[in-house]
Amino acid sequence: MRSRINPLIAGNWKMHNHPAESRDLVNKLLVLAGDVPDREVILIPPFTSLPIVSEAIRNTRFKLGGQNMHWEKKGAFTGEVSGVFLKSLGCEYVLVGHSERRHVMGETDEQINRKLKTALEIGLISIFCVGETGKERDESRTEAVITRQLELGLKDIRDEVHKIVIAYEPVWAIGTGKTATPQQAVEVHQMIRRQFAKPVTILYGGSVKADNIDTLMAEKDLNGVLVGGASLKPEEFARIIKYVNP
Ligand code: PGA
Repeated sequence: MRSRINPLIAGNWKMHNHPAESRDLVNKLLVLAGDVPDREVILIPPFTSLPIVSEAIRNTRFKLGGQNMHWEKKGAFTGEVSGVFLKSLGCEYVLVGHSERRHVMGETDEQINRKLKTALEIGLISIFCVGETGKERDESRTEAVITRQLELGLKDIRDEVHKIVIAYEPVWAIGTGKTATPQQAVEVHQMIRRQFAKPVTILYGGSVKADNIDTLMAEKDLNGVLVGGASLKPEEFARIIKYVNP
């Protein structure tokens, strides 16, 4: 495992919450779970809410992340956002290759590789998402699909995998309420770990909720979770942050 002491709990707000709603959510979260000492909480709001969330979490334990970035640092790329800008707003993390970007926006492994390289260069920690679809799992192709995503995504930068966080997010579990069983998550995490000589940090994502977090985090192989829908509900996300070790 990476020399990270605290488990990561990341909340991906996706395209939810305008700035005022974001401020309300973060303020509620700070009251409910702002002082949990041994958890690294990362809030990943939409770009338009980064300034307000950044301001709200100044001098708190919460960290900030962006949902995506372009591989170039600046230029004629209308509608895109530079990782340099994310950093300037206080982001320490950035999501790269989320399944919604791969499957809805058509992002390729090659583009993901370029983004991961740029993030390394500018000092943002990528949360690099990989995962199989339901069909790929049914066809027993989970290992092949993830191995390929890792190979292409980390082309020329495999040696720097310890500076990246990998998130295993089975596509069939995202936003569906169908969580992978701890067993299924652990199998894939172990398969990923076997592919690297260096220790890697691996999060699980896909319908993580208040009522399954304790069982998931009981698995030593999970270094944390990437939470979507449940991170929009302050009480529920606070309970996830405060998960209990059985
Ligand atoms: P979910 O989303 O928790 O709503 O399944 C996870 C994610 O997309 O990162």
